[in-house]
Amino acid sequence: MRITIFGTGYVGLVTGACLAEVGHHVMCMDVDQNKIDRLRQGIIPIYEPGLEPIVSHNTESGRLQFTTDVAEAVTFGDLQFIAVGTPSDEDGSADLKYVLAVAGSIGEHMDEYKVVIDKSTVPVGTADKVRNTISEKLKARGVSTEFDVVSNPEFLKEGAAVADFMKPDRIIVGTETERPRELLRELYYPFNRNHERVLFMDVRSAELTKYAANAMLATKISFMNEIANLAERLGADIENVRRGIGSDPRIGYHFIYPGCGYGGSCFPKDVKALARTAHEYDYDARLMNAVEAVNNSQKYVLFDKVSHYFKGDLNGKTVALWGLSFKPKTDDMREAPSRVLMEKLWAAGASVQAFDPEAMEETQKIYPDQPGLQLCGTKEQALKGADCLVICTEWKEFRSPDFEQIAAAIRFPVVFDGRNLYDEQMLGRYGLSYYAIGRGL
Ligand code: UGA
Repeated sequence: MRITIFGTGYVGLVTGACLAEVGHHVMCMDVDQNKIDRLRQGIIPIYEPGLEPIVSHNTESGRLQFTTDVAEAVTFGDLQFIAVGTPSDEDGSADLKYVLAVAGSIGEHMDEYKVVIDKSTVPVGTADKVRNTISEKLKARGVSTEFDVVSNPEFLKEGAAVADFMKPDRIIVGTETERPRELLRELYYPFNRNHERVLFMDVRSAELTKYAANAMLATKISFMNEIANLAERLGADIENVRRGIGSDPRIGYHFIYPGCGYGGSCFPKDVKALARTAHEYDYDARLMNAVEAVNNSQKYVLFDKVSHYFKGDLNGKTVALWGLSFKPKTDDMREAPSRVLMEKLWAAGASVQAFDPEAMEETQKIYPDQPGLQLCGTKEQALKGADCLVICTEWKEFRSPDFEQIAAAIRFPVVFDGRNLYDEQMLGRYGLSYYAIGRGL
């Protein structure tokens, strides 16, 4: 099938590369000429395991093409995916300007039947806006071509996006008409061979499903963080509690890890946007607001622990920081808890020696010439001359470090762990004190 994808960000690029990988012909369009030039040479703008090889070989085979030419892009595909960004507006609602700009372009250049597919995370009702925008443009041109607008939200996790696309838990397709249903069934057939994974539903339910999934996951995390904070005060260990409740199949072990707060481009934005949508429909989404509030304050927990340990005097202290990205296997720093921690430390007069396996370049871009920030080539270098160690991201290489070396390198024998990677007794054997989440104040 011939497919056009607008937007070569996370979602667009992974979708395009994976669809080309199974044999479809894909054209990815982006307004950023530099990005498109680099992609044509196989240079990927993000770190995502497994993405580079499939972009490269599908580009070489000609199944995956890149363009900045809107007219060419619209003409190319029978299916037109909109996968551009929906940043948060000041009031928390999703800003649809990029989505509607693409819809406008489609309307300006379309001359035959197309299925327009919303892949971006968009508020309920967006498909109607996309439809209206395209209709107006067609009318202005005096063209009477038919088209359908479908909601097909994505459920990729950064760091596992290619695997998630290739082996989806489900594929949600929101459409009320038969023609796009047949086309999308064919499109996704290669991912659907052993189990029926495509769930057809009405457009609005599909749009809401995406928000509900992320909001539910974010709720699980904020819930666990709240119980962790309570466990600290009650002298309980959240890790025991986690295992204790996870064993109930109705609760399950997945996604109940407490930590220093959720980050990334999705949960913070989507929880806010859902609360905002609720507000617009005169409904007070109290739970969503609470999930967000708990998460915002959770990002301060590590700082509070460090500050408490040093009796509120962090001036002149140096903190070794392991992990900058919002989670492992990505270089994404959006809404990362490490940023809140670093900014609080700098404000308190401390400096940071940081290491991350992938996110150093991103950090440099966000904090160019930041006094009090030193990016170190290895995790061991970050320890040198530091007063204490703090962990913000659970990269695999932090799981079994040389504790003897840590104890010898840092001035105060103390580790603050925002991801509960270790065990107090184990660290105690090396003379290290251990402060984690939900495991004692
Ligand atoms: C999330 C969803 O998991 C995807 O299903 C969804 O498609 C995606 O958003 C999206 O809307 O595009 P992602 O943001 O890549 O994916 O990252 P997650 O793996 O979900 O992690 C989000 C945050 O939650 C991270 O900061 C992570 O550290 C935190 N987390 C996760 C916890 O604190 N505890 C957990 O138990 C799990």
